[in-house]
Amino acid sequence: MDTPATTAVLDALLDPVLLLDSNKSIVAANPSARDLLGNQIKGRSLALAIRDPEVLDAVNEVLGGGDQQQIGISLMGPFRRNFDIQVASLAKTAESSAGAILIMHDMTATRNAEQMRADFVANVSHELRSPLSSLVGFIETLRGAARDDEAARDRFLDIMDSESKRMARLIDDLLSLSKVEANEHILPEGKVNIGELIADVSNTLFARAAERQIKIDLSTTSSPLFVPGDRDELTEVFHNLIDNAVKYCPDQTLVRIGIEEVARIPQIGGAGIVISVADEGDGIPAEHLPRLTERFYRVDKGRSRKMGGTGLGLAIVKHIVNRHRGRLSVDSTIGAGTVFRVYLPNEKTDAINP
Ligand SMILES: Nc1ncnc2c1ncn2[C@@H]1O[C@H](COP(=O)(O)OP(=O)(O)OP(=O)(O)O)[C@@H](O)[C@H]1O
Ligand SMILES: [Mg+2]
Repeated sequence: MDTPATTAVLDALLDPVLLLDSNKSIVAANPSARDLLGNQIKGRSLALAIRDPEVLDAVNEVLGGGDQQQIGISLMGPFRRNFDIQVASLAKTAESSAGAILIMHDMTATRNAEQMRADFVANVSHELRSPLSSLVGFIETLRGAARDDEAARDRFLDIMDSESKRMARLIDDLLSLSKVEANEHILPEGKVNIGELIADVSNTLFARAAERQIKIDLSTTSSPLFVPGDRDELTEVFHNLIDNAVKYCPDQTLVRIGIEEVARIPQIGGAGIVISVADEGDGIPAEHLPRLTERFYRVDKGRSRKMGGTGLGLAIVKHIVNRHRGRLSVDSTIGAGTVFRVYLPNEKTDAINP
């Protein structure tokens, strides 16, 4: 069973593969199997290499003359990994006695993707359900108890108006997200004067900021800076970042936007520009920072919902920045504020964001 030819075939396989004799001892293991289960597994009993009763049952079945078996198991290590295992019998040959072959197929990435999809559907349903239930509730009240109460009617219609707008916003954001995700591998076409674009975005938010005496200060380079990019998408990026800064900051604070050239984009390399959006808010606790760009992730769910947020803004930002082969970073100090930075390459590059 353990001939040079067999070894060559096994070594060429990327999936972990074990050959077992009729006593369930491992007579051969390819490099992937040794990486997974340990270098010294040859000669060991299968029960010691993979401590899973289902695997032993499947091997017993096959060695006892049963059909080929297919089972799914999880292996715990630094992190959990899922494998589909196929067990088939090996007939006795001139060189070797009868035994079994065990082929392991790593399903971790597939299972994670399935889980993410399921979570996403559950999240979307939940997010749509709350405004919808509130609409249904108010329609009932307006038909019944509040039918002739003019003041209550106006109040309820206002709430219904804002809840239905929230649903519309959620759907717009979901469509936006799926559009940028679909295009992520295609480099954007066009050239954008980034200072002008950010000044335009700031102008649309000045009035809302002024209501709470928040000042938006924009400092840019003396000569205009151009980046290859999609104007609408970049508008969405800076609209969300500046909107967040204004939204999550106390009254009478300052939002500082800076545009600068950088000789090297951190982690990606290559020259580019960096746009920073800094606020004087409460800051974001460190444990939340790596998760901010996940869909529907909010630091304070109640607060974000009350402000009409969908929790999709930064997820969209991240995908757009990736499409532009740029980089998004965030630094935050509790009690002092948060700085989001968007790095964009200023020349077309084929480098893919790692
Ligand atoms: N500048 C900031 N200061 C403090 N917290 C922030 C800041 N920016 C984002 N956050 C936190 O990150 C979360 C995610 O932001 P994101 O923009 O993705 O969603 P949102 O603002 O809640 O909703 P949307 O952008 O869809 O309206 C926010 O809910 C908020 O908790
Ligand atoms: Mg936002």
